[in-house]
Amino acid sequence: MISVAIDGPAGAGKSTLSRKLAASLDYIYVDTGALYRAVGLKFSKKGFDTELNGDIEEILKDTTVDIKFINKEQRVFLDGVDVSDEIRTPIASMMASAVSAKPVVRQFLLDMQRNLAKNNNVVMDGRDIGTVVLPNAQVKIFLTADVKVRAMRRYKELQEKGINDTFEAVLEDMEKRDYNDSHRATAPLKQADDAVLADTSDLNFEESLELLKKIVKDGVK
Ligand code: DC
Repeated sequence: MISVAIDGPAGAGKSTLSRKLAASLDYIYVDTGALYRAVGLKFSKKGFDTELNGDIEEILKDTTVDIKFINKEQRVFLDGVDVSDEIRTPIASMMASAVSAKPVVRQFLLDMQRNLAKNNNVVMDGRDIGTVVLPNAQVKIFLTADVKVRAMRRYKELQEKGINDTFEAVLEDMEKRDYNDSHRATAPLKQADDAVLADTSDLNFEESLELLKKIVKDGVK
């Protein structure tokens, strides 16, 4: 099986690009951020805030997260309920970032991610795919862009969904998440030594996609 690991900060275009890339290769696309978002949602439903004060393991014991592919599209199920849309709110983003710093949560989701790559050709995106989840992936890409460019992309995305946060709030959230994701002790966001850097600050979507396709073509022999 072939694995393409794509890591990078929030808003770099990982999910949209990875989805298109996977379709062009006829691989499945696995969005691992959605798994952390589902866990974050569970804690939010249980009344936790981002401080996560309480017995995390106890909650995890009573939590199931599943991925199903419906028409090749990933759907995420929390305790049997499809939460694929509910996990996209700004609160779910912050909760996902908070729970993802907890080693027990990362361990809880690890086997699921590895099994998907064992049984399928995958394009898998996240923060630690090339460094921790699939260290032997044939292709590793670190996809990034300037934080202001990323915040502007996310701001426009939210507006299209009718979520009217200000640009400043989106930028602040993104800087906070960048900091959390790259400074946590367990599996922090960082470029794997053998990953190819793809900076899309000055590239449009099509150009970014072409760049990724080229990196994959060069990497899969
Ligand atoms: O990619 P995303 O924005 O949907 O991810 C949500 C959060 O989950 C993000 O703040 C960091 C965390 N995450 C992670 O720690 N490891 C991954 N492989 C994917 C996401």
